[in-house]
Amino acid sequence: MNDRIEQVRAAARAEAASLTNADALERFRLSFLARKGSVADLFDQLRHVTAADKPAVGKALNELRTEVQGIYDGAKEKVDSSAQRTSIDLTLPGRPLFAGSRHLVSQTLEEFQRVFVSMGFDIVEGPEVESDYYNFEALNFPPDHPARDMQDTFFVSPSVLLRTHTTPVQVRIMEKRKPPVRAIMPGRVYRNEAVSARSLVQFHQVDGVYVDKGVTFAELKGTLVAFAKRYYGSSIKYRFRASYFPFTEPSAEMDITCYLCAGKGCRVCKHSGWLEIVGSGMVHPNILKRVGYDPEEVSGYAFGFGVERTVLLRHGIDDIRLLYENDVRFLEQF
Ligand code: DAH
Repeated sequence: MNDRIEQVRAAARAEAASLTNADALERFRLSFLARKGSVADLFDQLRHVTAADKPAVGKALNELRTEVQGIYDGAKEKVDSSAQRTSIDLTLPGRPLFAGSRHLVSQTLEEFQRVFVSMGFDIVEGPEVESDYYNFEALNFPPDHPARDMQDTFFVSPSVLLRTHTTPVQVRIMEKRKPPVRAIMPGRVYRNEAVSARSLVQFHQVDGVYVDKGVTFAELKGTLVAFAKRYYGSSIKYRFRASYFPFTEPSAEMDITCYLCAGKGCRVCKHSGWLEIVGSGMVHPNILKRVGYDPEEVSGYAFGFGVERTVLLRHGIDDIRLLYENDVRFLEQF
């Protein structure tokens, strides 16, 4: 009996090294540990052992079973853990990787630039801390114009201020270049106003100017209509309304049909069916003269968009402050 025990022990030990996969483990279990396996078989034989030998043989058998079970358990643990490491469930959904994205206002600025560059405009920039001269005087604002009021303008000193629009860059670029000049000027502007759903103290504009021989109002209209169709969609309807700006003559504002109600009238368009999207006009001869151009020889048009306003209109957002609260739940929608 002891010989048989040692044989089984030797056989189990001999196989230990080959127990590297589930099949081998199962074969081992069946041949040694199962109900019809060799260990159980030896326990069966215990009946034939004499009473005197039984305690010693029983003890040896128990030790054998413990050892064989140990071989099996150890090998199984190794196989199981390596299976976990190597098996990949390709049907599981991926873990989301949150990549940041451009802010809606930046996206819009880029879109303005893309569209106008494709129409032959350069992109130029000017200072945000501006002189009274470029912000107002050079643009024909009379000395008593309400826009100069402390209410609207952040003054740094009596003659230096935070620009209230990007229009002064028109003057700066025309002073530097000879016609033809065709450029847009995106940038940040500042107004000393109460923050509300409709206004902020800091926002963005995109001004544009084109001066050359024989530039007409019809070209202004054509350019703004082309932009509006690219940006808002080719099915929009538009209209031009006479308006007033000190630096353009004549001046006009362009409206498009309200995106929300398609012209029927709603809260967003204040029940008019129309939304104003841009101020514009023909560059005032005084300004052409001031930058050293001859208004008899060249003419030009100009326009100015409010960027945040454009964003609100296009996406149907009803509070401008949402753009700067930086709530990711809002921003990630765009
Ligand atoms: N600067 C104007 C504003 O801040 C917008 C504007 C209107 C700009 C007409 C222009 C223009 O260049 O021609 O409201």
